Amino acid sequence: MTQATMRRKLIAGNWKMNGSVAANAVLLDGIRAGANGLAADLAVCVPAPYLAQAQSALSGSSIAWGAQDLSLHEAGAYTGEVSGAMLRDFACQFVIVGHSERRSLLGETDVMVAGKTLRALSFGLTPIVCVGETLEEREAGQTEQVVSAQLGAVLADLKEPGKIVVAYEPVWAIGTGKTATPEMAQQVHAHLRALLLKADPVAGAGVRLLYGGSMKPDNARELLAMADIDGGLIGGASLKAEDFLAIARSA
Ligand code: PGA
Repeated sequence: MTQATMRRKLIAGNWKMNGSVAANAVLLDGIRAGANGLAADLAVCVPAPYLAQAQSALSGSSIAWGAQDLSLHEAGAYTGEVSGAMLRDFACQFVIVGHSERRSLLGETDVMVAGKTLRALSFGLTPIVCVGETLEEREAGQTEQVVSAQLGAVLADLKEPGKIVVAYEPVWAIGTGKTATPEMAQQVHAHLRALLLKADPVAGAGVRLLYGGSMKPDNARELLAMADIDGGLIGGASLKAEDFLAIARSA
């Protein structure tokens, strides 16, 4: 697909609930020191309390930062929630929305994920919308049906599909060391691309589709070589500057 050449690769780290001020300083400095001259865009999605630290460590560099979730609501009596406006206050560019851990552990539904996507866009944030099937769903042959429902809920309300990033993260591959083969991942990415093109024939071609699920330096190159894999959402391997940069270099 020639359109792939229009899409600059994005390698985004998802730190999840990891880090400390001391450990982050080493990691952020390490990433910054090795980020010059990369052909891919780089971003780190850090726990909310460390946004100020990420902002001060990365300002003036080519590396973007962001959060791992945002509130569905604009502001008000929502104890413990973090709003899109607050993320903008720390100059976040990205926010992960609908990660499978939030869907499965915290009960986030497709409708909530769609609402959060709109909320993120309303604050000028780029949502990284996560979709993906469980092992049971894959074994039952329901992968395309599941990701269609997840992405479909988001696209239904979206006026500008070109403003999102989508991450395909098969749940069985997250943190397990099991990676989808490049062909398996590409098959789902091609399906997601078709849905995006149906929603918007022009903008849909430009949406970056990331793969996530045990992507690491030794499997990144072949995954990133696939026509519709435009980057990665990296969990475990984003916690070491060396590994994260090695993935970015293979893009
Ligand atoms: P992993 O996580 O790279 O550790 O599998 C990816 C993710 O959950 O975003």
